[in-house]
Amino acid sequence: MLSNVVANQEIHAQYGGVVPELASRAHQQNIVPVVQQALQKANIVKKDLSAIAFTKGPGLMGSLLVGTSFSKSLAQALQIPLIGVNHMQAHILAHFIDDTTHSVPPFPFLCLTISGGHTEIVKITNFFKMEILGKTLDDAVGEAYDKSAKILGLRYPGGPLIDQHAKEGNPLAFKFTKPKVGALDFSFSGLKTAILYFIQREVKQNPNFVKENLNDICASIQHTIVSILMEKIQNAVKQTSIKHVAIAGGVSANSEIRKRLKESEKTMGWKTYIPKFEYTTDNAAMIGIVGYYKYLERSFDANTTTATARLKVDE
Ligand SMILES: Nc1ncnc2c1ncn2[C@@H]1O[C@H](COP(=O)(O)OP(=O)(O)O)[C@@H](O)[C@H]1O
Ligand SMILES: [Mg+2]
Repeated sequence: MLSNVVANQEIHAQYGGVVPELASRAHQQNIVPVVQQALQKANIVKKDLSAIAFTKGPGLMGSLLVGTSFSKSLAQALQIPLIGVNHMQAHILAHFIDDTTHSVPPFPFLCLTISGGHTEIVKITNFFKMEILGKTLDDAVGEAYDKSAKILGLRYPGGPLIDQHAKEGNPLAFKFTKPKVGALDFSFSGLKTAILYFIQREVKQNPNFVKENLNDICASIQHTIVSILMEKIQNAVKQTSIKHVAIAGGVSANSEIRKRLKESEKTMGWKTYIPKFEYTTDNAAMIGIVGYYKYLERSFDANTTTATARLKVDE
């Protein structure tokens, strides 16, 4: 991994969530300078490249099209192969970046992929054979974090802020009920509504309730969410007898899930794999690592390839 340049889009914070049209425009502005910066940091030039990997989906169509069109043009101009990468596979295979400096999960392993758009438990048999064992029936975990944060008046993305406040609070201060769904399925929309009603009720009694109890509220929300995640992983291990457990995706940056998973090595006898912090939220290195494994297999895309907004981890 020679360079991993990430351009953040501040524009969305004032709207309290990602505005698709603004995201595509920001991609359009950022893509040329970001690629130039990546080459510069890596200390290489364009003609040193052997292939171009890009995200073909899933995601917001406008943003995907910017990357797809740019990559097709670059690959064609340089006369090198083009490699379309599945964003969900990339989160998981991020565990294989810098594989000489840490232990990588052996096949088969389980991965809990948790992000702003997805929540799924995946069984990984080899680099490209993946199977979804369970997923969310409604909101994703990251969405639950971001929407709860919005209710509390915290800025977008709220996940990291809830995590920060939670560290100072009492996780048992307030109780939220957990959803009743299948052993490997998730549901977070009920929790979001429960939090909304709870806050509305308390604020009626005390207008300063959120301000006075912010750390305890955040800690209680986080405790509820992470307990659900741990329970589901436990169910998946029980069902598959696979004891190698990884986490991936933006929410795997969360301090509580990282801590609880690490503890499970002792309490549950699992072997766990926690990604480096910089490979948790969306990044270029994770697309690069999938590109690398596909390159070894000569798995290339034609220049007629197109972006796909909906793409499962096994596609
Ligand atoms: N420390 C954290 N705790 C909880 N959620 C987090 C944390 N850091 C990032 N997130 C959440 O991760 C999500 C972003 O995930 P990511 O994979 O980068 O994006 P996307 O879902 O768009 O692919 C957001 O919902 C964000 O709030
Ligand atoms: Mg992501």
